[in-house]
Amino acid sequence: MDRIAALQPTAVNAILAEVRALQAQGRNLVSLMRGEPDLPTPAHIVEVCTRALHNGRTGYPDNRGEKAFREAVALKLERDNHLRFDPATEILATSGATFGIHAALTALLEEGDEVLVPDPVYDAYQSPIRLAGGTPRPVPALLEGGRFSLPLDSLEHAWTSKAKVLILNTPWNPVGTVFTAAELEEIGGFCERRNVTLISDEIYETITYGEHRHISPLAACPSLRSRYLHINSLSKTYSMTGWRVGYCAGPAALIQRMFMVLAQSSRGPATFVQDAAAAALSGPQDCVASMQREYAGRREMVLNSLDKALAPEGGFFAMADVRGRGESSDAIRRRLLNDHGVVVVDGAAYGPGGEGTLRVSFASGGETLNEGLRCLREGLR
Ligand SMILES: Cc1ncc(COP(=O)(O)O)c(C=O)c1O
Repeated sequence: MDRIAALQPTAVNAILAEVRALQAQGRNLVSLMRGEPDLPTPAHIVEVCTRALHNGRTGYPDNRGEKAFREAVALKLERDNHLRFDPATEILATSGATFGIHAALTALLEEGDEVLVPDPVYDAYQSPIRLAGGTPRPVPALLEGGRFSLPLDSLEHAWTSKAKVLILNTPWNPVGTVFTAAELEEIGGFCERRNVTLISDEIYETITYGEHRHISPLAACPSLRSRYLHINSLSKTYSMTGWRVGYCAGPAALIQRMFMVLAQSSRGPATFVQDAAAAALSGPQDCVASMQREYAGRREMVLNSLDKALAPEGGFFAMADVRGRGESSDAIRRRLLNDHGVVVVDGAAYGPGGEGTLRVSFASGGETLNEGLRCLREGLR
């Protein structure tokens, strides 16, 4: 099988190509598309990085991750997530969550294995599953009362004996659900019963609203430990998307297999980047709280501005409800782009379960958000 032929550009990259073509014709567009915070990396983190560079921290890193970084991750997981992992054997530094997901799937899958994937969900899980020889198996989400969930009967119905992995993302991109402890216990129970490994992508953990709080699936279901892999990165929490630094935590045998993948490819984030990342995780966390407040304000703006938007419990996306308009979400997205100059992603790009919605990002604020919402209101009127 030609694994490369099965790879797809992400939805955002495909739309970006359309955007660039229009911009080349001189069109002025406003984008509420990307999941990239417009806030700068906090100054104290940048300072640690520049100091590390001046101090000659420019050689090859420890390929598992610098010891200080792995130790900072272990302390952070205990402090914030109530999870205990041994920094020597159970933690791996990765070039963003993206590499962690790739290494995990490559380490876990055999040719022909299936991966249960919520529908809709972050579309960039699909290609690394294919690259690892697996087949994505959608688990239809339930949209009820303005909230998406992943019911047990959907999981059971999607399950086959070939299913080796379930990927879960909480807070959930694009739909904004923050799974509750009860939901996570149920999902964890399913993984145990069906002998499925849970790849848990918790990259939006600090961005939650109101009474909603992120709970790590392993904290909700401790008996899952041998089948749980934690994926995280500093991209969203500390506005560090371009630094390409993240980490995974899981059973030593799985981390060792992932390390073998990493050692043949990326060999980990740059040494000075890991120094800065360790400082970010161990240093003052008020920058995280202040970013969270900023997103909460933007979320209010979006919800006040759009008549029919599902209120996200976490993350920085809101789903505009465009059901019942007699047009596909992709057709609406194209019309908004071509006639109203605003860029959003159609919900169907995240799986058929996203049809009837548009993903509106508030990772950018200020005039971009103001103007983007004005164009959206006009286009959806
Ligand atoms: C759910 C989810 N996981 C992973 C990533 C990629 O993260 P990183 O920048 O750490 O590679 C993103 C980025 O948008 C995301 O939304």
